[in-house]
Amino acid sequence: MQVLALPRSSIGKKAVMAVTGFIWIGYVALHMWGNLHIFQGAEAFNHYAEFLREVGEPVLSYAQLLWIIRIVLIVAIAAHVWSAWDLYLAARHARTSRYAVTRVVQANYASRFMRIGGVVILLFIIFHLAHFTWGWVTDFRRSDPYYNLVVGFSNPIIVIFYLVALAALALHLFHGVWSMFQTLGFNSRRWDSAIRGLAVFVAIVIPVGFATVPIAILFGFVK
Ligand code: HEM
Repeated sequence: MQVLALPRSSIGKKAVMAVTGFIWIGYVALHMWGNLHIFQGAEAFNHYAEFLREVGEPVLSYAQLLWIIRIVLIVAIAAHVWSAWDLYLAARHARTSRYAVTRVVQANYASRFMRIGGVVILLFIIFHLAHFTWGWVTDFRRSDPYYNLVVGFSNPIIVIFYLVALAALALHLFHGVWSMFQTLGFNSRRWDSAIRGLAVFVAIVIPVGFATVPIAILFGFVK
């Protein structure tokens, strides 16, 4: 009973946000790293994309591991958004009109920023799936993701949109990594600079790694 009540408590919801956020950080880090195969050419990139479907065979059937990952990601993002929403409602309920400490006001700005950024990222993911998974946005060849990327990122408007989403991702990762460690209990001043350093590292490496692909295509380094 106690254990079942945990996800409904405030600390339980923060723990859910930390765990599900961590799952997505792992996914975006691997996704970014995998995308860099594009710099090895069309064959290497398409081979890598096919590998993602075949991995796990013959123990698992074709694309089964991919589907397991997709289900984990969907459950994780749903739990992440749900906990964020619940925490927001609880904070709004508890809020008084005067703040005693500036740190509280700052935390409040940060969480508002996280909510706006989170919505931008969510909308981006839906657009991104429509773009490169369902093929609804630009000319699309199901078995040629290299071609899909080159066609997609030859359009400067789409590149700008991706870069804006990646900037939102950077801010979300920065504050997300920071909050994750606060939830885990690393909240004494002693840890501040180490955690801040890690948060900055993650928030720069992942979005910049992603951004190299649309930029390289737009400027003709990859064609
Ligand atoms: C410039 C940045 C990015 C590029 C070039 C890119 C590229 C791609 C491509 C080509 C696919 C389709 C893969 C396939 O079907 O073979 C894909 C799928 C996907 N991407 Fe990205 N991506 C980028 C950024 C992101 C970001 C920032 C996120 C998350 C915040 C993300 C989440 C996903 C998800 C969830 C899928 C669906 C995976 C699946 O179900 O197969 N991507 N991406």
